[in-house]
Amino acid sequence: MSQQDPKVEKMLDNLSEGVMFLDENGKIVSVNNALAEIFCVEKEKAPGSSLIEYIRNHELENFIKNALESQRGAEQEFELVTPVEIVVRIKALLYGSQSEKRGLLVVINDMTATRKLERIRVEFAANVSHELKTPLAAIKGYIETLQDGAIDDKKNNIKFLKIIGEQVERLDRLISDLLELSKIESGKKEITLARFSINELFDSVKFIAGHAAEKKKVVIKAQIPPNFADVLADKNMMEIALLNLVDNAVKFSSNSEVVISVERSDGKVKLTVSDSGIGIPVELLPRIFERFFRADKARSREFGGTGLGLSIVKHVMEVHHGSVLVESEPEKGSKFTLAFPD
Ligand SMILES: Nc1ncnc2c1ncn2[C@@H]1O[C@H](COP(=O)(O)OP(=O)(O)OP(=O)(O)O)[C@@H](O)[C@H]1O
Ligand SMILES: [Mg+2]
Repeated sequence: MSQQDPKVEKMLDNLSEGVMFLDENGKIVSVNNALAEIFCVEKEKAPGSSLIEYIRNHELENFIKNALESQRGAEQEFELVTPVEIVVRIKALLYGSQSEKRGLLVVINDMTATRKLERIRVEFAANVSHELKTPLAAIKGYIETLQDGAIDDKKNNIKFLKIIGEQVERLDRLISDLLELSKIESGKKEITLARFSINELFDSVKFIAGHAAEKKKVVIKAQIPPNFADVLADKNMMEIALLNLVDNAVKFSSNSEVVISVERSDGKVKLTVSDSGIGIPVELLPRIFERFFRADKARSREFGGTGLGLSIVKHVMEVHHGSVLVESEPEKGSKFTLAFPD
């Protein structure tokens, strides 16, 4: 087998596909770096081992055994636990001379990321349909009720129209959020960096969020160090991000304060939004930036929201080469920090 040749071995080690050579008896001749990485095994332990000794998986062993015994190439996708869950596409090809029993060249493509993306896409479509259908069903229901006579019911007709109005608003917000997200994600949204004053940004956010805050007896306070120099960012986008954080802070607290503040440290501008609201369980923190993720679905129904806000925030920070960080404790409150280059 020519893979003993250091040049060939080096070439195989540079491939992103996993490669394994098996002799005609199913003993491993050699593997490349990518294979050892995909299966979380040591490359040096491969030569001379049987497949089952090296990669403890019976499904895979049967697949290879069949290919060797039948002396026919084969291809199949496997979901394996290595100990992490992976999806691999495995191709077994025969090598060696036609006259005798031949060994196998096994090529492995790691499909984990591709399959994960596909799953996210499918879930996304299902989530969007669901989120569109719920308000539409309510609108349809109330229109039918009005048509069936409730239009003359002075006690209820205004109430029903108000609900229809709220549901239309919900649809409108959902669609704007989705458009915003897809624009940022596809890179179609142009980012215009310019210097602007944090005072202006905070004033505008306080004004827009003010009405909702008043309703919940929440006071929004802004803390800006004296003579704080202008920051460099896309003002509209930064306002969208900050508004989403303030909107959440208000939504998930009551009778308390929400503090927005700014500082400069480690060559970065850091904007923080802190509340003393319901907080987020620590095990859910890594998930809250996913599209449509809501920590508490029952509570979300009461407060409203589709779970898109924080994914927009995350993307806004990504296009600014910045980051968003969260610290939170249930029943104590949450603190979100947006950091971007100064
Ligand atoms: N300040 C906060 N306090 C408590 N929970 C929060 C806070 N911010 C976010 N969360 C949790 O994270 C989830 C995701 O937030 P996100 O802003 O993405 O969605 P949303 O507010 O539910 O809906 P949308 O922003 O689309 O209106 C929320 O549903 C909530 O469970
Ligand atoms: Mg939100």
